[in-house]
Amino acid sequence: MKLILACGDVMRKALVAGALVLAAHSPAALAVNEDAAEELAKAGKCFRCHSVDKAKKAPSYKRIAQKYKGKADAEAALIKHLSAKLSVKVEDGGDEDHEPPPAKNAADLKNLVQWILSRG
Ligand code: HEC
Repeated sequence: MKLILACGDVMRKALVAGALVLAAHSPAALAVNEDAAEELAKAGKCFRCHSVDKAKKAPSYKRIAQKYKGKADAEAALIKHLSAKLSVKVEDGGDEDHEPPPAKNAADLKNLVQWILSRG
């Protein structure tokens, strides 16, 4: 009887530990805040040139995500791209300014970058 109880306790502990491991690795724990990302993209007028899945004046976020798929430095590269004012060549051939989005902090910008990278 004592043995069975002890066993049950070990099992319960194992289950709890397993559930915690699952929770830490579930998509929810890594989830991007989609609303915040889209709001920031709207505020930064990103959709003037980018669409999520269609080419406009600029490549779609889907294409950008595909270009960076499997690249370990993707997040850092995009954070860098979005941290300074740049000049980019748009589809119709002209040069236009690429302004950083009005992110409140680094976490906000990272969330937007992760959202873009998860469109592919
Ligand atoms: C004036 C048009 C325009 C606006 C507005 C614009 N972009 Fe872009 N963006 C481009 C073009 C064109 C490119 C592709 C050229 C390049 O990568 O140099 C690009 C490239 C990118 C890339 C990919 C960079 C890479 O390394 O491949 C990301 C990410 C991006 N833009 C995000 C944004 C975000 C976020 C905003 C809003 C804050 C934004 N863009 C606003 C035109 C624009």
